Amino acid sequence: MKTTLRVNGEAREVDVPGGTTLLTALREDLGLTGARFGCGSGHCGACFVLLNGRAAASCTMPLERLGGMEVTTIEGLAKDGELTALQRAFVERDAMQCGYCTSGMLISATALLSQTPKPSDELIRDALAGNLCRCGVYARAIEAVKQAAGT
Ligand code: FES
Ligand code: FES
Repeated sequence: MKTTLRVNGEAREVDVPGGTTLLTALREDLGLTGARFGCGSGHCGACFVLLNGRAAASCTMPLERLGGMEVTTIEGLAKDGELTALQRAFVERDAMQCGYCTSGMLISATALLSQTPKPSDELIRDALAGNLCRCGVYARAIEAVKQAAGT
């Protein structure tokens, strides 16, 4: 099945079997490996991408259901090699350990700040609730989002 996706501002064509998920197409066909495979069932956040600006699981999204939605992956956040304020805050606040969950957390937090530039702690916690971190960096991630929200 040949299909064209809008990914990080570009049209990208893939030729994949029917039922292929967005996560598989991103990682195996387009070489965009920042979104990770965790649970495969929409429960951990490791595979999150932005779909029309909203954080969503790519592991449960068949390409057939994408329609013309704009996909933004972690690779599409930085512009001209310049990290976003949120990405810099994650680095400065050391809001990662193994890093497996980090791209998904950044995607969720990016969606939050684009909708609510100055979120409350509660809103930040809600926004990150779908991102599981086995290393337990939640407190530092929340501080990073607050730092970025202040810039
Ligand atoms: S791998 Fe998609 S939500 Fe866990
Ligand atoms: S930093 Fe290791 S899973 Fe979150």
